[in-house]
Amino acid sequence: MEDTRDLGPADPFLDRSVPSLAPPVRRLRPDRRPVPVPVKPEDDPLIPVRDAAAGPERMRVENLTIRYGGEAAVKDVSLSIHQGQVLALIGPSGCGKTTLLRTLNRLTETTTSATREGDVLLDGEEIEQISVTALRRRIAMVFQQPNPFPMSIFDNVAYAIRVQNAKRPGRREIEHQVVDALRRAGLHDELAGDLDRPALRLSGGQQQRLCIARAIATKPEVLLMDEPCSALDPKSSAIIEDLIAELRRELAVVIVTHNLAQAHRVADKVAFMYLGDLVEYGDVDQVFGAPRAQRTRDYVEGAFG
Ligand SMILES: Nc1ncnc2c1ncn2[C@@H]1O[C@H](COP(=O)(O)OP(=O)(O)OP(=O)(O)O)[C@@H](O)[C@H]1O
Ligand SMILES: [Mg+2]
Repeated sequence: MEDTRDLGPADPFLDRSVPSLAPPVRRLRPDRRPVPVPVKPEDDPLIPVRDAAAGPERMRVENLTIRYGGEAAVKDVSLSIHQGQVLALIGPSGCGKTTLLRTLNRLTETTTSATREGDVLLDGEEIEQISVTALRRRIAMVFQQPNPFPMSIFDNVAYAIRVQNAKRPGRREIEHQVVDALRRAGLHDELAGDLDRPALRLSGGQQQRLCIARAIATKPEVLLMDEPCSALDPKSSAIIEDLIAELRRELAVVIVTHNLAQAHRVADKVAFMYLGDLVEYGDVDQVFGAPRAQRTRDYVEGAFG
């Protein structure tokens, strides 16, 4: 039977006067106009899910200026660091990335000429109010050059756990923690159970993952990484990038990198620094795809060739 309900103004979908190329076998007649449903980014498999993992703010840097002698290396920088996110610090050599990173767990103050103005807060508390030992347990760091201690693989990770523990626990007590850290750092399976061999005999990529295992063994809340892949081959770098993606589920990650493709792959937020200034800070797709500042555009486009 013919459907005579009024479906509104002429619609080519329903217009009988438009000849169809193939005879319809069966036509479904909607009783109202179809309304397209907007696809949410998290439902679209082609859009990487990024901010979905964003958790609460863990660290906040406010009007931070760091000087060596009289010379400012970081100038009036403000930004925030969230759990579940990776923040990439990018910018040309000497722009203050390492200085900013080291300030987050009070390493800059080991340089006698360094002075600081402004606030650095961890969960709202000024980091100077937190003891250095407690702070570095909560904010761990991985350096550019893998720096395992000249001891066994097991002892490298065990050291980090024991140093936090006044009672100096024995091997049995901490074995599961060591194994867990090596597993989370993606190294355990490769070691085939032999944790007693010297750490210095591992490859560079394995040494860096061991250093990451050591850094995460005490369950820090923030992980700082200063060019962690720059001394590694592409395969080891790729393993570490996967690892960063995994780790960010449970903590906040701040990574300094000169590799913009890497920043694009791993970061949720990007901070572009230039001569100590924070020129741009925003979501990774905005900073790389639609930079607000000309200087950011020049840097991003130049480095991408
Ligand atoms: N210990 C120090 N004493 C004096 N000046 C320093 C010290 N460390 C860094 N600087 C200066 O502070 C500025 C910022 O240096 P920083 O190492 O933070 O830069 P960066 O962005 O990490 O560079 P790179 O990409 O080369 O590692 C530079 O001008 C540098 O010379
Ligand atoms: Mg540096």
